[in-house]
Amino acid sequence: MTELADVPATTTGGHDDRVAFEVNGSPVTVRRSHPHLLAALREELDITSPKDGCSPSGQCGCCTVFVDGKATVACQYDLAKVEGKSVVTLEGVDETERQTFADAFAACGGLQCGFCIPGIVMRAKAQIDKKGADLTRAKMAPHLGAHLCRCTGYVKILDAIDAVAHGQVCTPALSNDIGGGGAKYEAAPLTLGDRGYIDDIRMPGMRHAALHLTDHARADVLGIDTSAALAAPGVEAVFTAADLPGELRVGLIHKDWPVMIPVGGRTSYAGDVLAVVVADTRDHARAAAELVEITYDVLAPNTDARAALDPTAPLSVWGTENNVLSTSAYTRGDKFETAFEASAFTVHETFHTQRIEHAFLEPESTVAVPGPPRPGLEEPRSEVGGTLHVYSGGQGVWDDRNDIAAVLGIDPAQVTVELVSNGGAFGGKEDMSNQAQTALAAWLLGVPVKCTLSREESMRMHAKRHPIELEYWAGCDVEGRLTALRVRGIGDSGAYASVGMKVLERAAGHACGPYRWQALDIETIAVRTNNLVCGAFRGFGANQAQFAMEGVLDRLAEQVGISGWEIRKRNVIRPGDEWGPGQIMDDGAGGAEACLDQIRSSYDEAVASGKAVGLGLGLKNSGLGNGFREVSKAVVRFLATDGDRPGRIEVRHGWTEMGQGVHTVALQVAAQELGVEPERIDVIVDTTRELGFGQTTGSRGTLMVAGSVSAAAAVALADGCAVGVDYEGEYVVDWTQKLGDPNVANPTIHAVFSFAAQMVIADPETGDIEKVVAVHDVGRAVNPTLVEGQVEGSVHMGLGYALSEDFPTDPATGFPTNTTLRSLGILRAKDVPDIEVQLVEVPQPRSPFGIKGVGEIGLVPTAPAVAAALHAADGEWRTTLPMRPPST
Ligand code: FES
Ligand code: FES
Repeated sequence: MTELADVPATTTGGHDDRVAFEVNGSPVTVRRSHPHLLAALREELDITSPKDGCSPSGQCGCCTVFVDGKATVACQYDLAKVEGKSVVTLEGVDETERQTFADAFAACGGLQCGFCIPGIVMRAKAQIDKKGADLTRAKMAPHLGAHLCRCTGYVKILDAIDAVAHGQVCTPALSNDIGGGGAKYEAAPLTLGDRGYIDDIRMPGMRHAALHLTDHARADVLGIDTSAALAAPGVEAVFTAADLPGELRVGLIHKDWPVMIPVGGRTSYAGDVLAVVVADTRDHARAAAELVEITYDVLAPNTDARAALDPTAPLSVWGTENNVLSTSAYTRGDKFETAFEASAFTVHETFHTQRIEHAFLEPESTVAVPGPPRPGLEEPRSEVGGTLHVYSGGQGVWDDRNDIAAVLGIDPAQVTVELVSNGGAFGGKEDMSNQAQTALAAWLLGVPVKCTLSREESMRMHAKRHPIELEYWAGCDVEGRLTALRVRGIGDSGAYASVGMKVLERAAGHACGPYRWQALDIETIAVRTNNLVCGAFRGFGANQAQFAMEGVLDRLAEQVGISGWEIRKRNVIRPGDEWGPGQIMDDGAGGAEACLDQIRSSYDEAVASGKAVGLGLGLKNSGLGNGFREVSKAVVRFLATDGDRPGRIEVRHGWTEMGQGVHTVALQVAAQELGVEPERIDVIVDTTRELGFGQTTGSRGTLMVAGSVSAAAAVALADGCAVGVDYEGEYVVDWTQKLGDPNVANPTIHAVFSFAAQMVIADPETGDIEKVVAVHDVGRAVNPTLVEGQVEGSVHMGLGYALSEDFPTDPATGFPTNTTLRSLGILRAKDVPDIEVQLVEVPQPRSPFGIKGVGEIGLVPTAPAVAAALHAADGEWRTTLPMRPPST
C-alpha cells in the first residue's frame, strides 16, 4: 500500500546555508546543498538554457555557461567556488547577439533535436569573443571536444559558427513548399534553449521522483524495505510493485516488461526498477532512492547468447518459457547447397557486431499531472483524481497512453499523453522508460510529479542496438554474378522483448543486401539473455546484416578480380527483380542503381588518385509492411483571427519530433497544400484526438505525416476552411503482405525502401579516414537542408559504429562495464572527416510526393565502406566491430 511520510520543510537554513553570486547581472543566493552550479541554476533559479545531459560527469557540454567570462561546464563547478562570481547563461547574453546565433543556426540547419545547442552556442561565443573573424572551422572544432552532438555530425554546427564569426547575415525563413530548404520548425527557440524539454517543465506543487534500480541482473527479490527511504529528508512516499493498481507488465509487442519487480519476483537485467521515491526536490528523491533496501537471492545471469540457446540453460527472464525470443527464416530460389557448390568463387566468414548505446543527449524525463474527472467519464477509480496528463518524450504517445492506463487500471480515456519534442531518440525512446512509474506516483499522490533519469540510469534502462553474430556463406560465378547465400545469425536481445524479434526479422530480410541472388537460405534468432535489453536503433538490424553482406561481396570481388563498384553494378537489384524473401521490387528500387551510378565518378577519381577507397551500398525498408494496415491521421484546425492578425492554424499529427524534422515536414506540407504562410502554423502532437497508430520508427514518419496532412488540408479546403472545425485526413498503407502466406508467391513485404551508396576515402599509408561521400536516394527531399543534416549525422554515427563505439557488459554480471558518455567511443567534432552529401530523387510509387525516408538508411553502408577502405590500405579483412576500439 501507499505509504506517506510527514513532509519535512524544505531546507532553506540561515545565511550560512546559502551562496551568493551574480547571474546575468543580478545578485542571487542559492542553497549551498546543491551538488553543483548547474543544479542551482536549473532547480532553484529555474534558468533552463543550460541543459543537463550527463551531470555531474561533465562530458556532454550541454550545461556550458560563463563563470567570470570563461566558458565552463556548470555540472562540474562546485558551488563553494562560485561565491562572489559572475555567471552568464544564454538568457543573459545580449539580445542582438542571441538573435545572430539563432538566425545562423536556423539558416544553416545547425540543429536537429537542439538539446546540445545552447551549450555549444556559449562555447562558440567564447571563441568568437576571443578570436573574432580569425576563428576558422579548423580552430573551432577542437573546442567542440568538450561537447557532444549525437544528431548533426557537427558539419552544420560549424557552418553556423563560421557564419557568426565572419559576420555573415543570415535570414532564416520557414519554407512554404515541399522541396524548399527553409529553416527547421522552432529552430530559433531551440538554439537559445527557450523551447523547453520535459525536464524544463516547472509547475506549482510539483514533486520529484527517483528510481531504485536493481543491484543484480538476475536475482530473486525476497524483500523490499522502504523505511529508511521514507524517513529521509523531503520524502513523501515510496512506491513499489505492490502499489500498482493495474497491470505489472508493459511492452510494445509482448507484455513482458515489469514496471517494477515485486517481492517474489525476479530481476532480469540491470535496468529493472524496484521502487520509486517521491520527494520535494530531485536531490532528496535521489538520495532517498539509494536508501531502499532490497534482499536478494542472487542467481547467475545468462550473458552469452549462444550459451543461453542451450536447452539446459536456465531461463533468462522471469515469466517466460524459454530463451528463444524469435526465429526468422526463409529460403528462396534454387537449393542453396547446389548453387553454392556450382559457384566459381565462395566465401565463408563470421562477423561480429557490438552493442551500441543510443546516447541521445536528453536523458528520459516524464511529468505526470493529475486532473479532475472528465465530464462523461465513469466514476474514477482513484480517490484523488479522475484524469492524468502525462508529458512524454516517447516515440509513440498512444502506446504510452494505453500502457499507462493499463498499469493504473483505468480507462485510456482518463489519460492524455502530450508529446514534448525530445532531445534525440534514434529508436531508444520507443519503449517506455519512466513514464509508468511517474504516472503511478502522480496518480496515487494527486500531485504533479517529475522524474528525470540520470545518464547512468538512462544507459541501463533503455533498449540498445543488438550485438549480432552473423555467419555467411556466399558464392558467385566467374563474372562475379551472385549465386548462393546462406546466413545464420544469433542476436543478443537482452532480457525483455521490446521489438527485438522485429530487429532480427529485419536483419534476416536485409541479409542479402540490395542484390539479386539465385539461392537464399537465411535464419536469424533473437535470444533472451540477462544483458541489457536490445531493441530499436536507427537501421534496425539492417546495419549489422549489411556490414556482413558488403564484406563478403568485397571478398568475392577480389577473387573475381573486379572492383567493389563493378561487383555491385553487376548484381544491384532493379525494378522487377525478386528481392530477399521474394518481394518483386517496384520502380522505387531504381534508386539503388541510381546511387551507384551517381557515386561512380567520385569513386573512380579517388581510386585513380591512389587513395584507399571503400564502397558500401545499402537498402532499408521504411517501417511499413508485413501485411499490417498502417494508418496515419492528421487534423487541421483554423483558429479565430486575433485582432488584425489572421488566425493561427493548428496542425495535429501523431508522429514524434525527435530532431529528425517531422514537425517541419508537417508544416511545409500544410503551408503548400493550404496556401498559407508557414509562420501561422502550430504543430501539435497529443492524444486529445484519436490519431494514434504506433511508433515513430523506421523512417516512416515523413511520408505518413505528409500523406495525412495533405489529406486533412484537402478536406479543409473543400469545406472553406471554417474556423474551429477539426478537419481530419488520413493516409493508409494497406497493400503489403505477410511473409509465409502460401497463396502469395511474391509478397510485397515492405511498402517502401530507401537506398544509399557511401564511399570512404582513407590515407593509404595511415588508414586515417579523410572523406566520406554519401549518395542517398530519398525519393523526394521535402527539406533538402534537413535531409543533408540527417545524412551527415548518420555518417558521424556510422563512423563511430565502424571504428570506435561499443557498450559492453561484464560477462559475470550483465551490467555495463562503463556508464559514462566518454566511454562510448563517440567521435568528437575534430575526428569527423569531410562529409559530402549528394541527394538522388527516384520517386516511390504510391507514396505521397514520392517520399521514401532518410533516417534509417543513414548509416547502413558506412561501416562496410570503412572496412573496405581499411582493407585497401593494409590488405587486412575486418570481421569485428568496432574496428579501432579506443583501448587499442
Ligand atoms: S550536463 Fe554538464 S557536461 Fe553534461
Ligand atoms: S542537435 Fe545536437 S544532440 Fe541533437
